[in-house]
Amino acid sequence: MTHMTEAIQMTDARAVSAKPHLPDAQTVTSVRHWTDRLFSFRVSRPAALRFRSGEFVMIGLMDERGKPLLRAYSIASPSWDEELEFYSIKVPDGPLTSRLQHIRPGDEIILRPKPVGTLVVDALLPGKRLWFLATGTGIAPFASLMRDPEVYEKFDQVIMMHTCREVAELEYGRQLVDGLETDPLIGEIVQGKLRYYPTTTREPFHHMGRVTDNLASGKVFADLNLPGLNPEEDRAMVCGSLAFNLDVKAILEGFGLREGANSDPKEFVVEKAFVGEGI
Ligand code: FAD
Ligand code: A2P
Repeated sequence: MTHMTEAIQMTDARAVSAKPHLPDAQTVTSVRHWTDRLFSFRVSRPAALRFRSGEFVMIGLMDERGKPLLRAYSIASPSWDEELEFYSIKVPDGPLTSRLQHIRPGDEIILRPKPVGTLVVDALLPGKRLWFLATGTGIAPFASLMRDPEVYEKFDQVIMMHTCREVAELEYGRQLVDGLETDPLIGEIVQGKLRYYPTTTREPFHHMGRVTDNLASGKVFADLNLPGLNPEEDRAMVCGSLAFNLDVKAILEGFGLREGANSDPKEFVVEKAFVGEGI
């Protein structure tokens, strides 16, 4: 009997040590593929991890040589969620995402628990309306912020403008927004305060056009029955490609808004959704 117990214990010990454990490992709990270029997934949350909605962390996998291959990822879940959610591109030859896109529940990823970033409410002066301006996976930090009660405590209205080339690429954001007003935890707080303005640029949709064009022409203000942006009332957060961020920044500055930072809150803040080739 003693022998048998020992044998079992030894087998268990061997099995445990044989399983490669990643440093800062977190376990994948669910994965959802939205298009052939986009997927989202949820992982366990380190017990000690505190973050502000809108921040990003480094996540990744081990490479073939056993070294961590890490990339910046916005946390798409709000700070009160017991798991962490991410929304990801699949770059066909991308060092990380060519492999990350194959993760399944039960797999482990690396997550460095050091959240940082500029897309935080603290980096903005108080205001009346908060505009979230995103293209593509740039909606990820706003998926977090849109679910954070603090945003609705601090602003009367929140406007989410999200632009993608095609309708299917909007689906992650659409389902998230759709579920918000009936969410048992924050539905009541969100109700009547969140305006959603998704557009496409390369496939017919009820609203079309680039974020930049819809702001500059005033179309979005007319469609939502809102006044144009003004530095007394409007605050904005911007997340897209470098070109998008620069073009939006110029438009916001044209309306008299100034770029702020954690250490120097002003009327808008900007973060890159990814680092483009050669930049
Ligand atoms: P990489 O070698 O990193 O990228 C290859 C090329 O793919 C890039 O040069 C660029 O042209 C293109 N690319 C990379 N990421 C994207 C993207 N998200 N959308 C469109 N084209 C892209 N990516 C996410 O998918 N979700 C996030 O929440 C996210 N948050 C980020 C936050 C910050 C602050 C930064 C700087 C980047 C973020 N990224 C995010 C990009 C991410 O860090 C990686 O670049 C991406 O996962 C691709 O990794 P890779 O190793 O496969 O390819
Ligand atoms: P468009 O189709 O007119 O290029 P991408 O897939 O290239 O990252 O683009 C995502 C979305 O962002 C597309 O709808 C694209 O519009 C839009 N976009 C790309 N660059 C800019 C920019 N500089 N300003 C505004 N919108 C942009």
